[in-house]
Amino acid sequence: MRLDKYVSDAMQVSRTNAKKLIVTGKVLVNGQVCRKGDTQIQPQDSVSAAGQEAVQREEFVYIMLNKPLGVVSARTDKRDTTVTDLVKDSFPRRTLFPAGRLDKTSTGFILLTDDGTFAHNILSPKWHIEKEYLVTLDTPFTPQMQEGFAKGVTLVDGTVLAPAQAFETDNPFEVRVILTQGVYHQIKRMFGIYDAGVNKLHRLRMGGLILDQNLDAGQWRKLTLQEKDLIAKR
Ligand code: URA
Repeated sequence: MRLDKYVSDAMQVSRTNAKKLIVTGKVLVNGQVCRKGDTQIQPQDSVSAAGQEAVQREEFVYIMLNKPLGVVSARTDKRDTTVTDLVKDSFPRRTLFPAGRLDKTSTGFILLTDDGTFAHNILSPKWHIEKEYLVTLDTPFTPQMQEGFAKGVTLVDGTVLAPAQAFETDNPFEVRVILTQGVYHQIKRMFGIYDAGVNKLHRLRMGGLILDQNLDAGQWRKLTLQEKDLIAKR
């Protein structure tokens, strides 16, 4: 990768500002000032900026967002605010997208990333990554629902769902549901079979990573690579 692109990505500055840093001698490659923006940087090269530690370009970023109500799980939308809109000012040089969807009326853990392969893998039914939700119903949760989900229900359009776990909580209207697949409106349609409406749906967990309780609705933070790997844990 060219040095100017590397510096712009790593320091989250525009390409023009990266070029300025380089031509004014502020950027060192392997300890030497390098004023040429088109220098090719290899993975083993170390890049640093004057007065700063080594500038590490992260190949990809992984962001945990607590999605608020009313925001859509898309990269762009003509009408509504998207999950990407909530973070994009902090990542002007990245093309982030949500890995998976929550309905506009759902809340909770959304992963935003620019790592297409990772997103594809964790969403693939083959990987069986669990997603856990706290669901509030308009009617009490019943053992029939629990047993039906455990066997795998057939939706009205004939889609046969994989077995899913559902657990009662202290509140008869609240259920914890664990899915390993992501069919459109899956939870609402699963409960719909039992004439139960979903009043609230909040994603608590993806794989082995629980939504950070310190994140209020609309807040987000970057994940460490260890946390990102926890998502992929089966
Ligand atoms: N199932 C739904 O019905 N909605 C969601 O947002 C997620 C799972």
